[in-house]
Amino acid sequence: MRIFSGIQPTGTLHLGNYFGAIRQWVQLQEGNECVYCIVDYHALTNEDTDPAELRQARRELALDLIACGIDPEKTILFFQSAVPEHTELAWILGCVTSYGDLTRMTQFKQKAAEQEFVNGGLFYYPVLQAADILLYLADHVPVGEDQLQHLELCRRIARRFNYRFGELFPEPQPILGKGARIMSLADPTRKMSKSYGPEHYVGLMEPEESIKKKIRSAVTDVGLKPGQEMSPGVANLFEILELVAPGELVAELRQQHKEGKLLYKHLKEVLYEHLMRALAPIRERRAELAARGEIDELLAAGAERARKIAREVMQQVRARVGLE
Ligand code: TYM
Repeated sequence: MRIFSGIQPTGTLHLGNYFGAIRQWVQLQEGNECVYCIVDYHALTNEDTDPAELRQARRELALDLIACGIDPEKTILFFQSAVPEHTELAWILGCVTSYGDLTRMTQFKQKAAEQEFVNGGLFYYPVLQAADILLYLADHVPVGEDQLQHLELCRRIARRFNYRFGELFPEPQPILGKGARIMSLADPTRKMSKSYGPEHYVGLMEPEESIKKKIRSAVTDVGLKPGQEMSPGVANLFEILELVAPGELVAELRQQHKEGKLLYKHLKEVLYEHLMRALAPIRERRAELAARGEIDELLAAGAERARKIAREVMQQVRARVGLE
């Protein structure tokens, strides 16, 4: 299988990114050809992107990904902007994309509603995302649940291109992991995200004290009667716990909850302890990596490998549409 996925360099990795996507990225490296992209062009759609910060954030993200277990020798890891074919294909795909479909993208509608100045890049964002994937003829895309609509659009674009110009692109399928929808601890009705502010995400590399504080103050409920359904906050804590703690322990705590005997303070302590244990190797590797200077060369080599595939596919695209 050819796997492709991308992530925006918008600051630190959080638990949603890790459990929703990156953990699957790491596992899929075994036995597949993986292409993972730090999507810096996409990051420009965020109005407050500062050039110096972006420059640093994309490099730090590369180090974070390597600390999580992405192996840049085996896997192609690179910056999107180092392969200009992404934007070239995006233009061509835009011409087989329905304007109506783009206006229906939930992420666009949400972001546009929150901003005074809505840039064109934000509207075109899903087309560039489709180009990212199709440029590598990828058939599988590991993502969190929030990306499913973009992926559905990507398949529509592929279908439409194939129909007009002849079969070329596979219709990429999502790979959803167990943590595909991690919610904010401060407001469990919203997904964990950097864009809502620091209390709404838990960073993978955040200081221990700060993680502890965020978990301790996670929204729960005032206690339920036995048999009552779990509140979203508690369900989210269990969801995360399931990803880091042994099954028997989670089952036991679930049983206690069912019987109305579970103290949320205890649940939070157990979660903190198991989460930190799961993250420890990543945090240690990240600290070691900070001292290593070869990241630029690794990324340049990744871009070279990506470009080799991208150039070939682009040549076929250009020929199909009549540009060659
Ligand atoms: P981004 O940078 O917002 O997120 C990267 C990955 O993390 C997942 N994720 C979550 N999963 C579970 N729970 C959450 N709370 C949570 N928050 C984020 C996302 O689903 C994603 O898999 N548009 C994409 C980047 C992109 C891309 C692509 C992805 C550009 N081109 C091509 C796949 C294929 C984005 O902004 O992800």
